Amino acid sequence: MGVYRDLSGNTPVLACVRRAEQAVLAAQTTKSYVAAAGREEFNTAVEEMVLGSAHAARRDRRARTVQTPGGCGALRVGAELIRAAAPDVTIHVSDPTWGNHTPLLGGAGLRLERYPYYDAAAHQLRVDAMFERLDRAAEGDVVLLHACCHNPTGADLDPAQWQALAQLVTRRRLVPFLDLAYQGFAVDLDADAAGIRLVAEQVPEALIAISFSKNLGLYRERAGALVVIGENATRADAMLSHVLQIARSIYSMPPDHGAAIAAHIFADPKLKGEWLEELAAMRARIDDMRGRLAQELRKATGGGTFDFIRTQRGMFSLLGVSTQAVERLRERHHIYMLSDSRMNLAGLMPHNVEYVAESIAASLRGPDSAR
Ligand SMILES: Cc1ncc(COP(=O)(O)O)c(C=O)c1O
Repeated sequence: MGVYRDLSGNTPVLACVRRAEQAVLAAQTTKSYVAAAGREEFNTAVEEMVLGSAHAARRDRRARTVQTPGGCGALRVGAELIRAAAPDVTIHVSDPTWGNHTPLLGGAGLRLERYPYYDAAAHQLRVDAMFERLDRAAEGDVVLLHACCHNPTGADLDPAQWQALAQLVTRRRLVPFLDLAYQGFAVDLDADAAGIRLVAEQVPEALIAISFSKNLGLYRERAGALVVIGENATRADAMLSHVLQIARSIYSMPPDHGAAIAAHIFADPKLKGEWLEELAAMRARIDDMRGRLAQELRKATGGGTFDFIRTQRGMFSLLGVSTQAVERLRERHHIYMLSDSRMNLAGLMPHNVEYVAESIAASLRGPDSAR
């Protein structure tokens, strides 16, 4: 499952969320509808957190933000906007990408194509092939980019590669659709948004889908946002008006509770500081598991094949083993991951990491090997 787990195996309610939630409920005087765009103070805070306070798109008043039901809501509304504006464009998604991208974007009627991104057997990015493919995309096509902690690979572009990508996207007149679901899970809030800020600064138009499911642990509350950036303020207003029309036609208005909690935390320096500490603790736990698993796999396999796990970011990595090996892990060792060998590092515990590493090593040796 794509959720964070703490050392007790729970997906906890963050302490800052509990505190904010109590304050929100105490101050609440009505359950009347919110606007289709959601909470204004949430949208303003999110835009600043994602783009940074000095971003050109904000300075030139070319960015508009609406609250959405989670990151999925933002992805779907963004996809519907693309479909309404340019029904014939292709949206290019990474190979591999998060499984839900296909139904969310394809379900809006967009044609999907895959650009090479990651070689699971070699455990490395395919940057040259990715750039070569995107260089051949038609003008006006959309390219979906994971901002950080790529799901399912955990492999992100470095700053120089982001810079080159921003230039390519601008030169080829592609429209970036940036998916930010793990801000704060790789390095920190600013570093994790650096790549998409760079891209969004250079292009005339962009979309950003944001999720607070993971970094605030608000999964079921469905807190997210969609930022649209237009060529100029008038275009941005037109995009916003379309987005609100689309939102009305799907869910009318977003759920309030999660965004109210998030907005409360963002506006209160003490609570925000507590959140950043809790976020850092989640990040440190995942990084710790990455380091330990890589080390144990070195011991169990006698080589450095799995060293990549240590340097990748976020909750997921692709082990890069066969579906048969994944089946053996499940049937014989009771270790569960997706059939493409995507594992959730936040599901590992210090007490079972050695067992997991030995089981992975055994699963590689074939069907008859004992643990
Ligand atoms: C890459 C990616 N994008 C977007 C999302 C959307 O998350 P949600 O709709 O739960 O906020 C997720 C959640 O797993 C994700 O992994």
